[in-house]
Amino acid sequence: MSTFPSNPVIHIAGLTKSYSRGGQETPVLQGIDLDVHAGECVFLAGPSGSGKTTLLSILGAILTHDQGDVHVLDHDLARITNRERTLLRRDRIGFVFQKFHLIRGLTALDNVCVPLQLRGQRVRTARERGRELLNAVGLADKMLSLPKNLSTGQCQRVALARALAVNPDLILADEPTASLDSASGHEAMELLRKLTTDAGKTMIVVTHDPRIFSFADRICHMDSGRLTHHETPTANLAG
Ligand SMILES: Nc1ncnc2c1ncn2[C@@H]1O[C@H](COP(=O)(O)OP(=O)(O)OP(=O)(O)O)[C@@H](O)[C@H]1O
Ligand SMILES: [Mg+2]
Repeated sequence: MSTFPSNPVIHIAGLTKSYSRGGQETPVLQGIDLDVHAGECVFLAGPSGSGKTTLLSILGAILTHDQGDVHVLDHDLARITNRERTLLRRDRIGFVFQKFHLIRGLTALDNVCVPLQLRGQRVRTARERGRELLNAVGLADKMLSLPKNLSTGQCQRVALARALAVNPDLILADEPTASLDSASGHEAMELLRKLTTDAGKTMIVVTHDPRIFSFADRICHMDSGRLTHHETPTANLAG
């Protein structure tokens, strides 16, 4: 990887987050420090309940944090207005949800077009872009299929195409290979890297799955709401 520009895409220092349950505060993130630079592919790994999805959701401007500095794409998430938060999510961040969250009544193509239409693009322009992306993820023959008629791996690819629709600078993917077998998981990661970090975008991937660790530039291990150590995989298979 080349030398990094001075401003990281993500800068986190002393981040904390608690959830309140029945009037009691439960600490979930307990002082996270992390910088991620443009073009990096960083994995967040760690046991169930360690806070990975919570951290990813804060970075995706979906959840708010309690304390600490969190800068994402030059926005200070502690000071951002609701309007700026919405625009950041809509225009600059692609989020791949673990459960895909495809809209059941819409075809693959229309699902991919949703973020473009939310931005006010005309249907014809949005569809052109949608077709281009579905071709790129190998679903040229499934554009008009409803999610219920697609396999899990195909739904995953539609979700990926949708996350990339607006050409976001930052991709956040929560367990993108969790419901895939080993071969499909590898394929999905190859595709993700090709369409994202190989194209200069920055990506954070939450995963439990050591089978895909070799796709990371860096693996950050979490435990009980803390980053415990970082590791650089020895054999990077991507690219
Ligand atoms: N909305 C919520 N309200 C209260 N507690 C929550 C909420 N969401 C998550 N938690 C708790 O916060 C902790 C961290 O959850 P999180 O979903 O971030 O973990 P995770 O590392 O993504 O786990 P997994 O690998 O199982 O997806 C867990 O103990 C969880 O029970
Ligand atoms: Mg999770």
